[in-house]
Amino acid sequence: MDISFDFTYAQSLGADKLLGEAQAARSMLLNRSGAGSDFLGWLELPSQTSDSDLNAIQAAADTLRQAELLVSIGIGGSYLGARAAISALSNPFGSGFPVLFAGHQMDARYHAELLEYLSGRDFAINVISKSGTTTEPGLAFRMLWDLIPPERRRDRVIATTDHKKGALRQLADTEGLRSFIIPDDVGGRFSVLSPVGLLPIAAAGLDIKALLQGAREMQSRLYADDSFQNTAIQYACYRNAAYRQGHKIEIMAAYQQSLFYTAEWWKQLYGESEGKGGKGIFPAAVNLSTDLHSMGQWIQDGERTIFETVLDIKEADGPTIPRLAQDTDQLNYLAGRSMHSVNRTALQATLKAHHSGGVPGLRIELDRLDAEHLGALFYLFEFGCGISAYMLGVNPFDQPGVEAYKKNMFAMLGKPGHS
Ligand code: PA5
Repeated sequence: MDISFDFTYAQSLGADKLLGEAQAARSMLLNRSGAGSDFLGWLELPSQTSDSDLNAIQAAADTLRQAELLVSIGIGGSYLGARAAISALSNPFGSGFPVLFAGHQMDARYHAELLEYLSGRDFAINVISKSGTTTEPGLAFRMLWDLIPPERRRDRVIATTDHKKGALRQLADTEGLRSFIIPDDVGGRFSVLSPVGLLPIAAAGLDIKALLQGAREMQSRLYADDSFQNTAIQYACYRNAAYRQGHKIEIMAAYQQSLFYTAEWWKQLYGESEGKGGKGIFPAAVNLSTDLHSMGQWIQDGERTIFETVLDIKEADGPTIPRLAQDTDQLNYLAGRSMHSVNRTALQATLKAHHSGGVPGLRIELDRLDAEHLGALFYLFEFGCGISAYMLGVNPFDQPGVEAYKKNMFAMLGKPGHS
């Protein structure tokens, strides 16, 4: 497994000057001495999840796979990790076990069409909510629950929730549903490597042992080293250096369609962890080269408040470009090259162009996009987020700002006790 950064296009930021701050922030994480230290259970999920824990998750996933398909219900941290991994690692045109998602929004038409699609099918549900009281997944679960005949619910529904609190725990206990526990000290956006992410990922037929193995390897690297060679320290230093020099928006750029939801997961991780107290880098994402034909102009030439972090996959299978007898499209100069090498050349050329347009660029190189590398990347981003948020001077593990809309919404909806 190898994941490394290339900072060729970000040298001018002088990020190494922030090493001392990053080291102090890393110590706060590891010594559990910073704000929010009650929520550091994610730090040791890779090393403390045993083979028997993984076997239990795999066994439960195998029972879910006896249905025709799984609906994974959850939102935010109880949704994005699984969606990211499934979309990064599955063949979108393949015949693998289907995992659909619900409860991550309240789009009436989506849910109506989902209910229609599920009606008459033998589907399973993994309902995921730490609090067990979140509106979006709660509404979706109510609707889907009724479609499963009562005598099948114990086989077909698994809850992932708190070990003792919340409506979902109560329902699981009353109905005798199988359940997995979200540890008290693991917050939603740091929960992908817990049963929150692992159960739906395993149900999709993906290798959760390899995912955890990659995370474990990354954990031991990040624990062992507090020099500027530590990739989480590097990332935290570069993004804070960029922020302090006015680059207040970070664009995650992926050249693989399958990484779209990995960027969505990363957006939540950094946005919810750092955006508080009037501070924080705004995390945005683009899929390239697609968005070079829409957002490319802005990135190259718009307000100079951005920097970009590019996900670069070194090796990938794919087609070779054919030679045509008539070179009417004038693309024969590419004949014989792999599609992947053309995509990577576009990446290099774009990074260079953006840099010359005033956009510092970091490149993260992964040897391959497989379960092991993705597990390592998840853990690297989580660890980097903890360091980066402490460098910014905020508590990475709370989210007081998400309550404001709920307060208004509950009052407007007439929820008892909310006026
Ligand atoms: O990261 C977070 O804490 C949030 O995104 C939550 O995961 C999200 O709001 C869902 O919460 P719950 O799992 O309690 O339904």
